[in-house]
Amino acid sequence: MAHNELILTDVTKRFGGLTAVDALSFKVSAGQIYGIIGPNGAGKTTVFNCITGIYKSEQGSVKWRGEEIRGLTPYQIVDRGIVRTFQTIRLFSQMSVAENVMSGRHIKSKQKLWHGIVHSPWSKRDELANWHKVEEQLDFFNLSEFAAIPTGSLPYGIQRRVEMARAMAVDPTLLILDEPAAGLNDKETMELLQTIFKIRDKGVTVLLIEHDMDMVMEVTDYLTVINFGKKIAEGTPEAIQKDPAVIEAYLGSEDDDDE
Ligand SMILES: Nc1ncnc2c1ncn2[C@@H]1O[C@H](COP(=O)(O)OP(=O)(O)O)[C@@H](O)[C@H]1O
Ligand SMILES: [Mg+2]
Repeated sequence: MAHNELILTDVTKRFGGLTAVDALSFKVSAGQIYGIIGPNGAGKTTVFNCITGIYKSEQGSVKWRGEEIRGLTPYQIVDRGIVRTFQTIRLFSQMSVAENVMSGRHIKSKQKLWHGIVHSPWSKRDELANWHKVEEQLDFFNLSEFAAIPTGSLPYGIQRRVEMARAMAVDPTLLILDEPAAGLNDKETMELLQTIFKIRDKGVTVLLIEHDMDMVMEVTDYLTVINFGKKIAEGTPEAIQKDPAVIEAYLGSEDDDDE
Protein backbone atom coordinates (compact mmCIF):
# COMPACT_ATOMS: atom_id res chain seq x y z
CA MET A 1 0.00 0.00 0.00
CA ALA A 2 1.25 3.47 -0.84
CA HIS A 3 2.43 5.41 2.20
CA ASN A 4 2.44 9.14 2.68
CA GLU A 5 5.95 10.41 2.04
CA LEU A 6 5.36 14.11 2.39
CA ILE A 7 2.88 15.51 4.88
CA LEU A 8 2.22 19.22 5.28
CA THR A 9 0.11 20.15 8.29
CA ASP A 10 -1.22 23.66 8.85
CA VAL A 11 1.69 25.33 7.08
CA THR A 12 1.46 29.11 7.33
CA LYS A 13 3.83 31.60 5.71
CA ARG A 14 3.40 35.35 6.02
CA PHE A 15 5.10 38.25 4.28
CA GLY A 16 4.43 41.23 6.53
CA GLY A 17 0.65 41.58 6.67
CA LEU A 18 0.06 39.15 3.80
CA THR A 19 -0.66 35.51 4.59
CA ALA A 20 0.69 33.86 1.43
CA VAL A 21 0.09 30.32 2.72
CA ASP A 22 -2.69 29.90 5.23
CA ALA A 23 -2.84 26.74 7.40
CA LEU A 24 -2.32 24.51 4.38
CA SER A 25 -2.32 20.74 4.78
CA PHE A 26 -1.89 17.99 2.20
CA LYS A 27 -0.31 14.55 1.86
CA VAL A 28 1.66 13.14 -1.03
CA SER A 29 2.02 9.36 -1.37
CA ALA A 30 5.08 7.58 -2.71
CA GLY A 31 4.88 7.16 -6.48
CA GLN A 32 2.17 9.76 -6.98
CA ILE A 33 2.08 12.59 -9.47
CA TYR A 34 0.55 15.24 -7.24
CA GLY A 35 -0.60 18.64 -8.46
CA ILE A 36 -1.01 21.97 -6.74
CA ILE A 37 -3.08 24.41 -8.75
CA GLY A 38 -4.52 27.83 -8.15
CA PRO A 39 -4.71 31.30 -9.69
CA ASN A 40 -1.66 33.55 -9.92
CA GLY A 41 -0.60 34.74 -6.51
CA ALA A 42 -2.43 31.90 -4.75
CA GLY A 43 0.73 30.91 -2.86
CA LYS A 44 1.87 27.89 -4.89
CA THR A 45 5.53 28.84 -5.24
CA THR A 46 5.62 29.91 -1.60
CA VAL A 47 4.47 26.43 -0.56
CA PHE A 48 7.29 24.92 -2.59
CA ASN A 49 9.73 27.35 -0.99
CA CYS A 50 8.54 26.21 2.44
CA ILE A 51 9.07 22.55 1.52
CA THR A 52 12.51 23.08 -0.03
CA GLY A 53 13.92 25.21 2.80
CA ILE A 54 14.07 28.56 1.01
CA TYR A 55 11.54 29.81 3.54
CA LYS A 56 10.72 28.53 6.98
CA SER A 57 6.99 28.62 7.63
CA GLU A 58 5.95 30.47 10.76
CA GLN A 59 3.65 27.65 11.75
CA GLY A 60 2.91 24.08 10.90
CA SER A 61 4.87 21.02 10.08
CA VAL A 62 6.54 19.62 6.97
CA LYS A 63 7.27 15.93 7.39
CA TRP A 64 9.26 13.88 4.96
CA ARG A 65 9.24 10.14 5.56
CA GLY A 66 8.39 10.72 9.19
CA GLU A 67 11.06 13.36 9.80
CA GLU A 68 10.29 17.01 10.51
CA ILE A 69 12.15 18.96 7.79
CA ARG A 70 10.73 22.41 8.49
CA GLY A 71 13.69 24.62 9.36
CA LEU A 72 16.32 22.55 7.54
CA THR A 73 18.53 24.32 5.00
CA PRO A 74 18.01 23.83 1.25
CA TYR A 75 21.15 21.65 1.13
CA GLN A 76 19.93 19.42 3.93
CA ILE A 77 16.65 19.03 2.10
CA VAL A 78 18.36 18.13 -1.19
CA ASP A 79 20.34 15.61 0.83
CA ARG A 80 17.08 13.90 1.73
CA GLY A 81 16.25 13.47 -1.94
CA ILE A 82 13.91 16.43 -2.42
CA VAL A 83 14.91 18.34 -5.55
CA ARG A 84 13.18 21.13 -7.42
CA THR A 85 13.12 23.17 -10.57
CA PHE A 86 12.17 26.85 -10.63
CA GLN A 87 9.33 28.74 -12.28
CA THR A 88 11.83 30.81 -14.24
CA ILE A 89 14.89 29.16 -15.73
CA ARG A 90 17.97 29.26 -13.52
CA LEU A 91 20.80 27.78 -15.53
CA PHE A 92 24.40 28.80 -16.17
CA SER A 93 23.83 30.18 -19.65
CA GLN A 94 27.53 30.29 -20.64
CA MET A 95 28.08 26.70 -19.58
CA SER A 96 27.37 23.72 -21.82
CA VAL A 97 24.31 21.57 -21.40
CA ALA A 98 26.45 18.74 -20.00
CA GLU A 99 28.12 21.07 -17.48
CA ASN A 100 24.76 22.35 -16.31
CA VAL A 101 23.53 18.82 -15.74
CA MET A 102 26.83 18.07 -14.00
CA SER A 103 26.22 20.96 -11.63
CA GLY A 104 23.32 18.89 -10.25
CA ARG A 105 25.77 16.09 -9.45
CA HIS A 106 28.06 18.56 -7.72
CA ILE A 107 25.25 19.70 -5.46
CA LYS A 108 24.88 16.07 -4.49
CA SER A 109 28.57 15.47 -3.82
CA LYS A 110 29.25 18.80 -2.14
CA GLN A 111 29.84 17.13 1.18
CA LYS A 112 32.60 15.09 -0.43
CA LEU A 113 34.39 18.19 -1.63
CA TRP A 114 37.52 17.53 0.39
CA HIS A 115 38.11 14.42 -1.73
CA GLY A 116 38.47 16.73 -4.71
CA ILE A 117 40.78 19.05 -2.85
CA VAL A 118 43.25 16.32 -1.90
CA HIS A 119 42.87 14.53 -5.27
CA SER A 120 42.20 11.21 -3.67
CA PRO A 121 41.41 8.25 -5.93
CA TRP A 122 37.83 8.51 -4.70
CA SER A 123 37.38 11.88 -6.33
CA LYS A 124 38.32 10.47 -9.75
CA ARG A 125 35.98 7.56 -9.25
CA ASP A 126 33.21 9.94 -8.17
CA GLU A 127 33.84 12.14 -11.17
CA LEU A 128 33.58 9.20 -13.53
CA ALA A 129 30.38 8.02 -11.89
CA ASN A 130 29.09 11.58 -12.16
CA TRP A 131 29.73 11.71 -15.90
CA HIS A 132 27.92 8.42 -16.35
CA LYS A 133 24.93 9.91 -14.54
CA VAL A 134 25.10 13.01 -16.72
CA GLU A 135 25.17 10.90 -19.89
CA GLU A 136 22.22 8.91 -18.64
CA GLN A 137 20.20 12.08 -18.06
CA LEU A 138 21.19 13.64 -21.40
CA ASP A 139 19.98 10.48 -23.07
CA PHE A 140 16.75 10.35 -21.03
CA PHE A 141 15.88 13.95 -21.89
CA ASN A 142 16.97 13.70 -25.56
CA LEU A 143 19.72 16.23 -24.97
CA SER A 144 22.80 14.28 -26.09
CA GLU A 145 23.13 16.18 -29.36
CA PHE A 146 23.30 19.48 -27.43
CA ALA A 147 25.76 18.29 -24.77
CA ALA A 148 28.59 20.67 -25.72
CA ILE A 149 26.47 23.69 -26.64
CA PRO A 150 26.25 26.73 -24.33
CA THR A 151 22.84 26.44 -22.72
CA GLY A 152 21.94 30.11 -23.20
CA SER A 153 22.08 29.78 -26.97
CA LEU A 154 19.45 27.03 -27.10
CA PRO A 155 15.68 27.50 -27.57
CA TYR A 156 13.61 27.95 -24.42
CA GLY A 157 11.92 24.53 -24.62
CA ILE A 158 15.31 22.80 -24.65
CA GLN A 159 16.56 24.88 -21.73
CA ARG A 160 13.59 23.70 -19.70
CA ARG A 161 14.61 20.10 -20.44
CA VAL A 162 18.14 20.90 -19.27
CA GLU A 163 16.71 22.14 -15.97
CA MET A 164 14.80 18.93 -15.45
CA ALA A 165 17.84 16.87 -16.43
CA ARG A 166 19.92 18.73 -13.86
CA ALA A 167 17.31 18.06 -11.17
CA MET A 168 17.10 14.39 -12.11
CA ALA A 169 20.90 14.11 -12.01
CA VAL A 170 20.66 14.67 -8.26
CA ASP A 171 18.80 11.31 -8.02
CA PRO A 172 15.70 12.70 -6.33
CA THR A 173 13.13 10.69 -4.43
CA LEU A 174 10.72 13.61 -4.74
CA LEU A 175 10.93 15.87 -7.78
CA ILE A 176 9.23 19.25 -7.38
CA LEU A 177 8.38 21.11 -10.57
CA ASP A 178 7.27 24.75 -10.57
CA GLU A 179 5.18 25.36 -13.69
CA PRO A 180 7.17 23.06 -15.98
CA ALA A 181 4.88 23.73 -18.95
CA ALA A 182 5.15 27.53 -18.74
CA GLY A 183 6.26 28.91 -22.10
CA LEU A 184 6.15 25.57 -23.89
CA ASN A 185 4.23 25.03 -27.12
CA ASP A 186 1.64 22.24 -27.48
CA LYS A 187 4.09 19.70 -28.86
CA GLU A 188 6.63 20.40 -26.12
CA THR A 189 3.87 20.17 -23.50
CA MET A 190 2.84 16.75 -24.81
CA GLU A 191 6.46 15.60 -24.63
CA LEU A 192 6.70 16.97 -21.10
CA LEU A 193 3.67 14.90 -20.08
CA GLN A 194 5.32 11.74 -21.37
CA THR A 195 8.56 12.67 -19.61
CA ILE A 196 6.77 13.16 -16.29
CA PHE A 197 5.14 9.73 -16.62
CA LYS A 198 8.55 8.21 -17.39
CA ILE A 199 10.06 9.91 -14.33
CA ARG A 200 7.31 8.47 -12.14
CA ASP A 201 7.91 5.04 -13.71
CA LYS A 202 11.50 5.29 -12.48
CA GLY A 203 10.05 5.36 -8.96
CA VAL A 204 10.30 9.11 -8.38
CA THR A 205 7.39 10.89 -6.69
CA VAL A 206 6.43 14.08 -8.54
CA LEU A 207 4.89 17.21 -7.04
CA LEU A 208 4.03 19.88 -9.53
CA ILE A 209 2.51 23.31 -9.69
CA GLU A 210 0.88 24.03 -12.95
CA HIS A 211 -0.98 26.85 -14.51
CA ASP A 212 -2.00 24.96 -17.63
CA MET A 213 -5.23 23.26 -16.51
CA ASP A 214 -5.41 20.73 -19.34
CA MET A 215 -1.90 19.60 -18.59
CA VAL A 216 -2.62 19.16 -14.88
CA MET A 217 -5.76 17.18 -15.54
CA GLU A 218 -3.93 14.77 -17.81
CA VAL A 219 -0.84 14.18 -15.75
CA THR A 220 -1.80 14.20 -12.07
CA ASP A 221 -3.25 11.41 -9.92
CA TYR A 222 -4.47 13.80 -7.26
CA LEU A 223 -4.72 17.56 -6.79
CA THR A 224 -4.96 20.25 -4.18
CA VAL A 225 -6.44 23.55 -5.29
CA ILE A 226 -5.46 26.68 -3.40
CA ASN A 227 -6.66 30.24 -3.51
CA PHE A 228 -5.36 33.05 -1.29
CA GLY A 229 -3.05 30.50 0.37
CA LYS A 230 -5.91 28.27 1.50
CA LYS A 231 -7.01 24.89 0.27
CA ILE A 232 -10.37 25.18 -1.48
CA ALA A 233 -10.60 21.64 -2.82
CA GLU A 234 -8.73 18.38 -3.20
CA GLY A 235 -9.40 15.26 -5.17
CA THR A 236 -8.83 13.43 -8.41
CA PRO A 237 -8.72 15.50 -11.62
CA GLU A 238 -12.21 14.24 -12.51
CA ALA A 239 -13.66 15.40 -9.19
CA ILE A 240 -11.80 18.73 -9.25
CA GLN A 241 -13.10 19.60 -12.70
CA LYS A 242 -16.67 19.39 -11.37
CA ASP A 243 -16.07 21.18 -8.07
CA PRO A 244 -18.09 24.43 -7.97
CA ALA A 245 -15.57 26.20 -5.70
CA VAL A 246 -12.79 25.43 -8.14
CA ILE A 247 -14.80 26.50 -11.13
CA GLU A 248 -15.54 29.79 -9.45
CA ALA A 249 -12.04 30.49 -8.19
CA TYR A 250 -10.00 29.15 -11.02
CA LEU A 251 -11.71 27.99 -14.15
CA GLY A 252 -13.96 31.05 -14.15
CA SER A 253 -10.95 33.33 -14.31
CA GLU A 254 -9.11 31.33 -16.98
CA ASP A 255 -9.53 34.07 -19.55
CA ASP A 256 -7.63 36.53 -17.40
CA ASP A 257 -4.51 34.60 -16.71
CA ASP A 258 -3.07 33.15 -19.87
CA GLU A 259 -0.42 35.84 -20.17
N1 LIG B 1 9.39 37.13 -0.97
C1 LIG B 1 8.16 37.68 -0.93
N2 LIG B 1 7.93 38.83 -0.28
C2 LIG B 1 6.69 39.37 -0.21
N3 LIG B 1 5.62 38.82 -0.78
C3 LIG B 1 5.77 37.67 -1.47
C4 LIG B 1 7.05 37.03 -1.58
N4 LIG B 1 6.91 35.91 -2.32
C5 LIG B 1 5.61 35.85 -2.65
N5 LIG B 1 4.93 36.89 -2.14
C6 LIG B 1 3.49 37.13 -2.26
O1 LIG B 1 2.82 35.97 -1.78
C7 LIG B 1 1.70 35.66 -2.59
C8 LIG B 1 1.86 34.27 -3.16
O2 LIG B 1 2.89 34.30 -4.14
P1 LIG B 1 3.35 32.99 -4.91
O3 LIG B 1 3.60 31.91 -3.93
O4 LIG B 1 4.49 33.36 -5.78
O5 LIG B 1 2.06 32.64 -5.79
P2 LIG B 1 1.88 31.66 -7.02
O6 LIG B 1 3.12 30.86 -7.18
O7 LIG B 1 0.67 30.85 -6.67
O8 LIG B 1 1.60 32.52 -8.21
C9 LIG B 1 1.61 36.76 -3.65
O9 LIG B 1 0.71 37.73 -3.18
C10 LIG B 1 3.02 37.28 -3.71
O10 LIG B 1 3.03 38.63 -4.11
MG1 LIG C 1 4.48 30.67 -8.75
